Amino acid sequence: MDDFTGTTALVTGGASGIGRGLATSLLEDGAAHVVLADIEAEALAEAVAALTGLGLGEVSGIRCDVTDPESVELTASLAWERTGGLRVVCLNAGVFAGGYAWETTLDDWDWVLGVNLRGMINGVRSFVPRLIDAGEPSHLIGTASIAGIVAAPASAVYCTSKFAAVGLMESVQHDLGLAGATHVATSVICPGMVATNIDHGERNRPAALGDATDTEASHLSGDSIEKILAESGLDPLVGARHALGQAKAGRFYVTTHEGDMWDRLVGNENDDRLAGRPPRFQMYE
Ligand SMILES: NC(=O)c1ccc[n+]([C@@H]2O[C@H](COP(=O)([O-])OP(=O)(O)OC[C@H]3O[C@@H](n4cnc5c(N)ncnc54)[C@H](O)[C@@H]3O)[C@@H](O)[C@H]2O)c1
Repeated sequence: MDDFTGTTALVTGGASGIGRGLATSLLEDGAAHVVLADIEAEALAEAVAALTGLGLGEVSGIRCDVTDPESVELTASLAWERTGGLRVVCLNAGVFAGGYAWETTLDDWDWVLGVNLRGMINGVRSFVPRLIDAGEPSHLIGTASIAGIVAAPASAVYCTSKFAAVGLMESVQHDLGLAGATHVATSVICPGMVATNIDHGERNRPAALGDATDTEASHLSGDSIEKILAESGLDPLVGARHALGQAKAGRFYVTTHEGDMWDRLVGNENDDRLAGRPPRFQMYE
């Protein structure tokens, strides 16, 4: 889609950070109704009130746990009813945990893969058939990460989930073409470092998956992310505006940052792959 004027949209993880930025940017672009779907009830109510207060378009909230297929299906059907049919769906909810692959607890594997990958799978299963059946121009936008293209050290579960999220979005793009559903456009956002609440993701962690990785590597990774986000993380609204601008321009791979970060990191990664070298360590800057 190259124009969001008058559109109807839903953003998972819309109560905070990049999701809230995407919702705001969609409203700035003229969206008529934006639905925020999020697990965190208080933050959701606050975000709905704040975005409604902008006076740009209708904003509503649905409490949703993206890891639960029934919750996502209910959200899709409620949002469809409320808006008369969605045209933009942003599968954005995500969490982070750090640590070496072999030290990461099974609870961390289940939590992060559950939100970042299973959450996106649930979204694809509930929203894509509706977008196809609607027969109108629409856009499915998934939030992965630059960590889904270029792996970072001491972040095994996060990188695994994000490489899979990029693969899922690429597959959906192929499958929509094969199914003749080219009215559904797709983009995958691969943000760099954005100043959000991702370093406080534990706030939404289910008690049943409470065994968080507690190792030197997990602390090193968590502390360094907190420091980078505080010192040089991009404003999420600025990143969201940039990403949606690129999506509207028809790009599939989309990032949050202006400049040459994408070309440099992906270029180095591709060079290493073509030469058969192990991936070099690259900072996301
Ligand atoms: N912040 C960064 O630097 C960065 C970089 C690359 C990718 N990302 C990705 O951007 C997306 C948004 O993250 P953010 O940085 O804005 O973090 P954030 O913590 O500010 O926002 C994430 C949102 O997801 C919601 N959420 C968490 N678990 C959920 C669940 N089970 N069901 C529904 N909602 C749930 C949270 O309540 C929160 O509102 C994530 O997919 C993240 O991996 C972030």
